[in-house]
Amino acid sequence: MTVTENSLLARDVYRLRLAGDASGIERPGQFVNLLLEGFFLRRPISVFDWTEDSLTLIYKTVGQGTAHMSRLSPGAELDLLTGLGNGYDTGLSGDKPLLLGGGVGVPPLYALAKKLREEGKQVRAVLGFRTAADAFGITDFEALGCETAVTTEDGSLGRRGFVTDALPDAYSFFYACGPLPMLRAIWRTCKPSGQLSLEERMGCGFGACMGCSIQTLSGPKRICREGPVFRKEELPWTV
Ligand SMILES: Cc1cc2nc3c(=O)[nH]c(=O)nc-3n(C[C@H](O)[C@H](O)[C@H](O)COP(=O)(O)OP(=O)(O)OC[C@H]3O[C@@H](n4cnc5c(N)ncnc54)[C@H](O)[C@@H]3O)c2cc1C
Ligand code: FES
Repeated sequence: MTVTENSLLARDVYRLRLAGDASGIERPGQFVNLLLEGFFLRRPISVFDWTEDSLTLIYKTVGQGTAHMSRLSPGAELDLLTGLGNGYDTGLSGDKPLLLGGGVGVPPLYALAKKLREEGKQVRAVLGFRTAADAFGITDFEALGCETAVTTEDGSLGRRGFVTDALPDAYSFFYACGPLPMLRAIWRTCKPSGQLSLEERMGCGFGACMGCSIQTLSGPKRICREGPVFRKEELPWTV
């Protein structure tokens, strides 16, 4: 695919727009695996939004690979594996789904919100960030017609605290993505059922190397293939 835009959205957070064949992507919550020049392993990044011939990703620079991505200019060509992972199941949502995203766990929830809104669902989103300088995507969720709340750990934007401090009273199902401590807190706190998207370091990214296996209540599963999205009831976490 060809880079058409690579712009800074928030502190260390970039939006990368690409043109090319994205027809392999079927569901929100799937990810792509990017090959970067000079790096042996591909970098997995969630799909923020896509059409048949375009793809938008949002990523944070955390190490050498993502720093290399931030230096890509329009016109650069990228080799991607697309449509990886299972993605979220909107059929489980009920009428009033709740979306819970933390930091760079927010991007896959945008494509999900878009699909749920197209299906006529009343969507609420709670987006959590460390501080106001890290925040992005809020107006995108609002533009979809989602009732959107924001939390920051230092109270510099929205409500002070974590996404679990801003849960609405009633919702039919939850969808979550974010850092592991946040996902565990959601798993403990949210009473209705839900789906959580997990992250793990990956080798191949398409099910061949077993490098991303985790234990679930129905046996070992590969995050890149049977995941990254798992049902709350599948995870062997303890309260
Ligand atoms: C399914 C999935 C979806 C993701 N979606 C996003 C997204 O939408 N936006 C975003 O900013 N980040 C996302 N990540 C995290 C992203 O893959 C890492 O931040 C990135 O690979 C770091 O690469 P690096 O070379 O900059 O860092 P380094 O630390 O130098 O990377 C070294 C190695 O560790 C791997 N690695 C490092 N951190 C992670 C991590 N958190 N998860 C998995 N592998 C990691 C790298 O891929 C690389 O192979 C996702 C991860 C997964 C597994
Ligand atoms: S990364 Fe190779 S099986 Fe998941």
